[in-house]
Amino acid sequence: MVDELVLETSVSGVRLKHPVMVGSGVLGDKPELIIRLIEEGSPAAVVTKTLTKKPREGYLPPVIVELGYDSYLNAVGLANPGIEVVKDLVNAGIKLSTPVIVSIAGSSIKEFAELAVIADEAKASAVELNLSCPHVRGLGAELGKDAQTTYEVVRNVSSSIKIPTWVKLGPWDNLINVAGKSLEGGADALVLINTLRGMKIDIYSFRPILTARIGGLSGRALHPVAVRAVYEVYREFKCDIVGVGGVFDHETALELILAGAKAVQVVSAVISYSPSVIVSIVESIKNYMTDVNVKSITELVGLSHKI
Ligand SMILES: Cc1cc2nc3c(=O)[nH]c(=O)nc-3n(C[C@H](O)[C@H](O)[C@H](O)COP(=O)(O)O)c2cc1C
Repeated sequence: MVDELVLETSVSGVRLKHPVMVGSGVLGDKPELIIRLIEEGSPAAVVTKTLTKKPREGYLPPVIVELGYDSYLNAVGLANPGIEVVKDLVNAGIKLSTPVIVSIAGSSIKEFAELAVIADEAKASAVELNLSCPHVRGLGAELGKDAQTTYEVVRNVSSSIKIPTWVKLGPWDNLINVAGKSLEGGADALVLINTLRGMKIDIYSFRPILTARIGGLSGRALHPVAVRAVYEVYREFKCDIVGVGGVFDHETALELILAGAKAVQVVSAVISYSPSVIVSIVESIKNYMTDVNVKSITELVGLSHKI
C-alpha cells in the first residue's frame, strides 16, 4: 500500500491544508470573489486585497501591462473598498472553512495598529502588513524600507492583536536588516516578496504605458529574485516564511519551498489563467513528492540549505 502524502503545513500556527494560497491583489476585495477563489481553486488560504482605512480609487487606467513572458507591471494604486468590508471578506472564508489573511496598509504607525485590531476583531486568521507596495506614496513601502520604522510598526501591531502578524517585504537591498527588525518587533512570519519597481515605454507614443509611470514587476520574471530573497532570509533567521513571486507551477512553488518557504502565494498566475491553477499546482506537487519519495511537504522546507 502507498503511504498517504502529507500536504498539510502551518505558518505561524495558521493551519494550511496544503502549501499554496492566493496572495494579495487578485479577486480579494469582495466576498463573492473570495468565494469564487475558494470554490474554483481550493487554496489553503486567501489573502485579501490590501485594505486601507478609507476606500481608495487608485490610479486611472492603464494600471496593468502584460509583458508577454508570464509577467506583468502593475500600478493599481492600492484601489480597495476600505477596512469597513473586512468582516464580510473574512466571513466568506469562514463559511467555506478557508483561512482569510487580511492585508493592511496604514499611513502611520498608529494607523497600522488600528487596522490590525479591526482585522483581529473580524476573526481574520492573521494580518499581513503590506510594508512594500512599490508605487504608492505615503503608504507601506516608504515605511518598510526603513528598518527602524518597520520595527516600530510591527511592534505596535503585534502587541495590539492576538492573531499572528505576517510582514510582507520588498526585495530591497537592506532586506536582511529589515527582516531582522520585523522579527525583533514580533513578526510571526515574513512574506517575501512584493513586486520590484519597473517601467514599460510605448515606443510609438514615446510615453510610459502605466498612468503612474512606474509599476511593480510580478510573474515569472520576478521568480529568481523571490527565491534569492527567501533563501537569504531563511539562512539568516530560520523563521516562518511565505514565498511569493512567479509561482506558476509546481517547479516554481517547490524552488521557494526548498529555499525556506513553508508555503507560497500565487497572484499573477491566477490573473493569467484562473483560480483553478492552484488545483493543478497542488496536484503536480503531489506527483513530484511521489517521484522524489518525500512523504511530507514539511521535509522539503529549506532543504536546499542542507545539501
Ligand atoms: C494586479 C496586482 C495587484 C497587487 N496588489 C497587491 C496588494 O494590494 N497588496 C500586496 O501586498 N501585494 C499586491 N500585489 C503583489 C502580489 O501580492 C505579489 O507580491 C507579486 O505580484 C508577486 O507575486 P506573483 O508573481 O505571483 O504575482 C499585487 C500584484 C498584482 C499583479
